[in-house]
Amino acid sequence: MPAPVPDAAIPVLTIDGPSGSGKGTIARAVADKLGWHMLDSGAIYRAVGYATAVRGLDPSDAEAVARCAADTRIEFRDPGDGGDTRVVVDGVDATDAIRTETAGAAASAVAALPEVRRALVDKQLAFRQPPGLVADGRDMGTVIFPDAAFKVFLTASPAERAERRYKQLKAKGLAVTLASLLHEIELRDARDASRTVAPLRPADDAVVIDTTGRPIATVVAAVLAVVRKD
Ligand code: DC
Repeated sequence: MPAPVPDAAIPVLTIDGPSGSGKGTIARAVADKLGWHMLDSGAIYRAVGYATAVRGLDPSDAEAVARCAADTRIEFRDPGDGGDTRVVVDGVDATDAIRTETAGAAASAVAALPEVRRALVDKQLAFRQPPGLVADGRDMGTVIFPDAAFKVFLTASPAERAERRYKQLKAKGLAVTLASLLHEIELRDARDASRTVAPLRPADDAVVIDTTGRPIATVVAAVLAVVRKD
């Protein structure tokens, strides 16, 4: 059996930023170009929010939610047909269920609990596999992979982020208004940035990229340039 590759030898690119900054799309495209693995840490928090609801737990019971975070089985499965990665929670395909606005709010609430964040550290570190990892989230560069060689922080104006989300949800046939999405985005930003554990902020050594008004391909190129230094 080949000797395991030490973590320090496996390169990591962290992509942090608020929801709607384009992180998910950019991280996926960059991981594909590099041929690296991908960690969607937001999906892990969403899966835990979903699991607590399925189990009927009180979301403010930090200990119970942390236990749920520790023992919920969260799997990412490639459907093999070029489609989106499936997120399977305790054996049930929850890909669509975790993407609703309600699930997002539940994720944000459980993510504010220090016990939950601690319970999820090892699950996230396990994604660091050769030949490399693109880690998408809020605290990838600050808390989970502080030694990452490459760190990016994506931003976009709240108005543009609300607009992007509006288009995504409309495309799925969901009834939403732009004003309510903007309001939710501002509330969630405030909560994510002001929580005491892992608040949303760029790592000191992150390259900050504003994606407002920029096409995806341009942002992907800017992020790849951080890794390739070209
Ligand atoms: O990126 P997203 O919208 O899927 O994230 C869902 C929620 O999880 C969001 O409110 C912030 C939280 N989150 C977090 O606290 N830390 C992460 N690394 C990723 C997401």
